[in-house]
Amino acid sequence: MDNKFLSKKGALSELLKALRDVSAADRPKVGARANEAKTKLEAALVAKRDGFENEALASRLEKERVDFTLPARRAPVGSLHPVTKITAEIVAIFRRLGFELAEGPEIETEFNNFDALNMREDHPARDMQDTFYVQSEKGGRLLRTHTSPVQIRSMLAKKKPPVRILCPGAVFRSDYDMTHSPMFHQVEGLYVDRDVSFAELRGALLFFAREMFGAQTQIRLRPSYFPFVEPGAEVDVTCVLCKGKGCRVCKDTGWLEILGGGMVHPKVFEAVGYGTGENPEPVTGFAFGMGVERIAMLKYGVPDLRLLFENDVRFLKQFGV
Ligand code: DAH
Repeated sequence: MDNKFLSKKGALSELLKALRDVSAADRPKVGARANEAKTKLEAALVAKRDGFENEALASRLEKERVDFTLPARRAPVGSLHPVTKITAEIVAIFRRLGFELAEGPEIETEFNNFDALNMREDHPARDMQDTFYVQSEKGGRLLRTHTSPVQIRSMLAKKKPPVRILCPGAVFRSDYDMTHSPMFHQVEGLYVDRDVSFAELRGALLFFAREMFGAQTQIRLRPSYFPFVEPGAEVDVTCVLCKGKGCRVCKDTGWLEILGGGMVHPKVFEAVGYGTGENPEPVTGFAFGMGVERIAMLKYGVPDLRLLFENDVRFLKQFGV
């Protein structure tokens, strides 16, 4: 049916062909009528086609309608990992007390990680169960078990006091359960000068605790033992949940342990050559170390450490940018 009028063999062609058989007298008239018919047909065709096209366009415009007044859709943005956020917060707080950022490698020597920190060969922390040792031709390499070796590096590099550094970083221990991960993060602080006192340590830590957990926070120092400090202390803050009244989180004590610290042990100064030889002036100093994941768990109420390492976006995106 499609070709009925307009194809080569359609009615219009037949009509034009038939003009041959029309007498010369009638031909102009018949020819003109034929042309008229042709023009009309073609015009009708064009009109119909335009009609279809307009209809198609109209329905597309309707379907693909854009409302330019709508607010733009936000592109999804990532968020900072809670460990990254807390690390940055800790660094920012101690920066205000004049601490400079220091860094050290994750693969350490036994000397920096243990010996220089007054942990002799038979110290339990050197047990194979806790420490990842690394095969090395130079011998005695390991994945650092804490950020304390950066104390040693900083003092050796600076050669003489004052030294006031803060070192955040990853540390490694062979351990894995609800509160332990084989890789976790610590921040180490060290302040060495003439006449640095235990009171200054307490002051710095109280300032930190209040900046991190709120102005009402109290701290408590309990005598404790770390080979590289004397005296040494474990430091508690008033419970972040019950504010000291006693609850499930603080096991009804009202206190939560957040870090260890103390006055730098004379053996440590001896190992880096402070207070002798070229630096005979007596020095004192304080040091402290804290676990970043632990602070993050307390601050954000995260019950299981492993959540911080599973990288489930539903968990991570709660912490915002
Ligand atoms: N290095 C210790 C640890 O990993 C933490 C620590 C305790 C660091 C007392 C210190 C300190 O500087 O004085 O458990």
